[in-house]
Amino acid sequence: MSKTKKILALAAAGVFALSLASCASDSGSTGGGEAAAGGDCNVGVSMPTRSLERWINDGEQLKSLLEEAGCTVDLQYADNKTDQQISQIQNQVAGGSNILVVAAVDGQVLAPVLAEAKKQDATVIAYDRLINGTPDVDYYATFDNYKVGQLQGEFIETQLDLANATGPISIEPFAGSPDDNNAKFFFSGAWDVLLPYVESGVLVVPSGQSPASNDDWASIGIQGWASDKAQSEMDNRLSSFYTGGDKVDVVLSPNDSLAIGIEASLKSAGYAPGADYPLITGQDADKANVKAILDGEQSMTVWKDTRTLGKQVFDMIQEIVAGDEVTVNDTKTYDNGEKVVPSFLLDPEVVVKDDVQTKLIDSGFIKAADVGL
Ligand code: BGC
Repeated sequence: MSKTKKILALAAAGVFALSLASCASDSGSTGGGEAAAGGDCNVGVSMPTRSLERWINDGEQLKSLLEEAGCTVDLQYADNKTDQQISQIQNQVAGGSNILVVAAVDGQVLAPVLAEAKKQDATVIAYDRLINGTPDVDYYATFDNYKVGQLQGEFIETQLDLANATGPISIEPFAGSPDDNNAKFFFSGAWDVLLPYVESGVLVVPSGQSPASNDDWASIGIQGWASDKAQSEMDNRLSSFYTGGDKVDVVLSPNDSLAIGIEASLKSAGYAPGADYPLITGQDADKANVKAILDGEQSMTVWKDTRTLGKQVFDMIQEIVAGDEVTVNDTKTYDNGEKVVPSFLLDPEVVVKDDVQTKLIDSGFIKAADVGL
């Protein structure tokens, strides 16, 4: 941990211990701040998978912030398996977690386990992905998911000057996992920018995988956000629809794990960075993708500084433990079918080749050596 980060974390921990101490005295407990933290701040953190760098960072960062503040933390990863996530959450509740932080594998199926958690008065924070169909989710912290897609769409629009182009420019759109509530927001944000150009013929989709409206996004969704599935889908599109020297000009990829698969497919079809290489979008600033950006194999990524999200959730937990009102900045957007979940939305930002040093490396998000610099 850098010196500055450590100081920030310690400062945050100090404030947290103070609020816990005041909470303990409010409730008549005789414990000190640290001891009270162990009792009152028992957090179960449930992350979807270790197979993607971002979730490892998310989990570890939140765990260390909370532990430095004296909380007990049980961090679990569900290998992208719904049943595993449900039983991990059940164990956390049985083990006394009074706060649950859940990044759902499948946002549709957690209602029963959260109902159990509520019987034990647990407070539930949906982390990054909304949990649907349940009144038992209290807060949601995420990056502005619609904006992620919008940044990808606008990037394509600006780079190709679509407003003044006549086309036809070929594009292949992809969407994220159909069970992830975020995926439809990412797609909608991008498609609201791009669909008018498809309708006017400036953009064409040779594979025909072109949702007529945002609601049809799942028809092009890649289950589990899997790189290998994105790769074989791109293989199919290229071999069936790009024959006789036709080239794809743009690939709308909602995130980095799909982009990696798409880039592998392009490579095996003979595409190489340079004038004829398509624009490809991404999201997350995973190291392999940042390296691809530096090598000209990916055009951009939408960076979500997961440290900020972890800190936001840490702040929410502080407020919950202290009995304070929890700070949110959106009470309209995220309707989960049972309620509009009070949310805190953070700002994502575009990273291109020229930003890698200033935004990602100088801020300590990744190390220069990890991307070959
Ligand atoms: C997250 C993305 C991530 C994707 C795959 C989404 O819910 O918001 O950051 O790339 O899941 O794990």
